[in-house]
Amino acid sequence: MSRSPDPVRCLPASRPLHARMRVVGDKSISHRALILAALADGVTEIEGLLQSADVLSTQAVLQAMGVQIITTGEYTSVTGRGSFENFTEPNGVLDAGNSGTTARLMAGLLAATPFFSVLSGDTSLRRRPMDRVTMPLRTMGATMDGREGGRFLPLAFRGRKLHGVTYELPIASAQVKSALLLAGLSAQGESRIVEPRPTRDHTERMMTAFGVEMSRDKERIALPGPQMLHTPGHLNIPGDFSAAAFFLTAAALVPDSEVTVEGVGINPGRIGLLEILSAMGGKWSVDRVRLSAGEPVGDVTVRYAPLRGVEVGPEQVPAAIDELPLFALLGASAHGISTLRGAEELRVKESDRIRTTLTLLRSLGVEVTELADGWAISGPQRIHGGCVETKGDHRIAMTAAIASLIGEGPVTIDDAASVDISFPTFFAVLEMLYKA
Ligand code: S3P
Repeated sequence: MSRSPDPVRCLPASRPLHARMRVVGDKSISHRALILAALADGVTEIEGLLQSADVLSTQAVLQAMGVQIITTGEYTSVTGRGSFENFTEPNGVLDAGNSGTTARLMAGLLAATPFFSVLSGDTSLRRRPMDRVTMPLRTMGATMDGREGGRFLPLAFRGRKLHGVTYELPIASAQVKSALLLAGLSAQGESRIVEPRPTRDHTERMMTAFGVEMSRDKERIALPGPQMLHTPGHLNIPGDFSAAAFFLTAAALVPDSEVTVEGVGINPGRIGLLEILSAMGGKWSVDRVRLSAGEPVGDVTVRYAPLRGVEVGPEQVPAAIDELPLFALLGASAHGISTLRGAEELRVKESDRIRTTLTLLRSLGVEVTELADGWAISGPQRIHGGCVETKGDHRIAMTAAIASLIGEGPVTIDDAASVDISFPTFFAVLEMLYKA
């Protein structure tokens, strides 16, 4: 997949946006589908797997461990290895690319797989914290090392049998929770995980679809180990709410617009942006709610409405974590002050997303105040045209493109190819929206 910097120029919307659309498959669920299908016995057919750079990183890592994965059109077939013991020792460094989810989830798997392996990633990923997974995995008996004692990639594993522990997560992170659940599948005894705040529960839902037994309440999960996974045969990946969020936000911002995204995942751990939009006076609805592989799916519609500023606090952050750059854009257009607090996790995403989000807005003429754990933006403010530096961060590139719709002049984005990480067809869908 080409990742060469590739500037693109986006234009203001000349009229209201009216569209019904679909978006790519969910990124978080796609990673989990590949990993669980690789561990399970039998063949799993995955429909609508996201074909993006991040998910292909997980796929390539699993293939390097002997897993057969074949994609034909919309269908991906994974021949599972049946147990941790049946993976084969990789003969080179496993490359997680830009993908934090690949690195954290695979760390949980590799710590429990009985061979030697080394996991690394690109420049951005090698700057991101890994001690959040290496520390708890070590308490389960894992033997691993890495840069700065395991704080950063590359990490080296000497996989072995682990034992269950009780671990209270110091930060709300679905990636860390999922790494521990994956390790817990091979561990002797019960693994108990306590979350400070609920995070997306895709791993728990999908493990259940693969026949794993666990008990869950609001913030505590208990998984008895060891357990085997049994393929459900077929999995259908819902549309990615985090991809849909760009076009839903566009509808909230461009006067008289209405956009529907069909077949999108509406897991409560993911749709925090809609709750924030409600508090701002935004208008949305969900129709045709159904379940797919244990995940709720629906058709989400957002209609334009004048917005007011709101304060978003730490309890709202996990369910909107990847959509917070869009909240900044909504805040710039809303009447009054919009504040974000308790979002220091944004500083360790693909870029320092507090900094890159605010730099994006400043490049377009918006005045913002940076806080250690968020920001304050007083609106409404005019969005001029300008040039946006993405720092290679896909969500910053896509937020800039949505900002252009309500801009007074063109917005140039320095590295449009970064959208390949999660949403390779983003610009094609955006173009369709201009024409619809
Ligand atoms: C993800 C969890 C979140 C999110 C990321 C995907 C996942 O990260 O930001 O894009 O698939 O589990 P954290 O677990 O670090 O909050």
